[in-house]
Amino acid sequence: MKRIAVLTSGGDSPGMNAAIRAVVRTALYYNLEPVGVMKGFEGLMDGEYFDMDRASVGGIIHRGGTVLRTARSDRFRTADGQRKAMEEIQKHGVDALAVIGGDGSFRGAEALGKMGLPVVGIPGTIDNDIAGTDVTIGYDTAVNTALSAVQKLRDTASSHDRLFIVEVMGRDAGFLALEVAVSTGAEYVVVPEIRLDIAKMCEQLHYSRKRGKTHSLIILAEGVMSALELKNQLQDTGGYDARVTVLGYIQRGGSPTSFDTILASRMGSFAVEALLEGRSGVMVGSVCGQMTLCPLEAAWKSPKNLNPEMLALVEKLGV
Ligand code: F6P
Repeated sequence: MKRIAVLTSGGDSPGMNAAIRAVVRTALYYNLEPVGVMKGFEGLMDGEYFDMDRASVGGIIHRGGTVLRTARSDRFRTADGQRKAMEEIQKHGVDALAVIGGDGSFRGAEALGKMGLPVVGIPGTIDNDIAGTDVTIGYDTAVNTALSAVQKLRDTASSHDRLFIVEVMGRDAGFLALEVAVSTGAEYVVVPEIRLDIAKMCEQLHYSRKRGKTHSLIILAEGVMSALELKNQLQDTGGYDARVTVLGYIQRGGSPTSFDTILASRMGSFAVEALLEGRSGVMVGSVCGQMTLCPLEAAWKSPKNLNPEMLALVEKLGV
């Protein structure tokens, strides 16, 4: 094995650049030839490959986004797209591929693995919704970005005795919402994994107001409903006049925290070493602080559950 390609795919996440740097520099350390692929699987099919050296990843460790750009590719999901990618891979003499992304990206990597290309996945998503790893690259930064925004909202909520709904990202998973809720001391968290009982929420709000609480904070994962919908439901059911804030894509940007930078550096380096040891069809994980490997398909086949202790904390400490 000589030429290792790297690409980023799906939603970007802070720390992806640090992971690219780690893949490239570890490959060079072992006298391999790192190859960058632009725009994820789109570039893989369109022949957007370029040779990388130490300097190509200089000055990017602290930068958010991804210098390799990213895309969500419907074309690559087709058999034709995958065949085209394999043709380009062979044309460019690529021997192995590291894919940095989420579960959708790993399905793509798995397809290439089945066609004979050694592949390894590096989990990068702010959603942290990938089984086989305790944490994904970008999650910690996104939590901290949301944390500093919500702390500011708390100031104004308490000054005006207001109820605030803050919508955070998370289409299918509530990891981000839950961690933001616990770290901001929110009164409620609404996540896709748990059915929302709006009447109960209104009852609790009523009860806490009676006890003298003047302001409250609800952290809502976008996958459940929009903040505006929840505002309307609270108005209709309990007569509450909530203010809403949607944090949106701001959570995907910014410089990675030291936690994400170190995680990305370790995962990127470990991925190259796994390929060198002849492993393929695997994803790098961080389990109890140790670098691990698991089958790529664990990323979308195995469930990853919210920590019930954390959910209970919101109820115990918030309301
Ligand atoms: O994958 C991370 C994520 O940020 C989700 O939380 C969100 O729903 C989705 O990406 C949005 O993706 P897009 O970039 O396609 O709008």
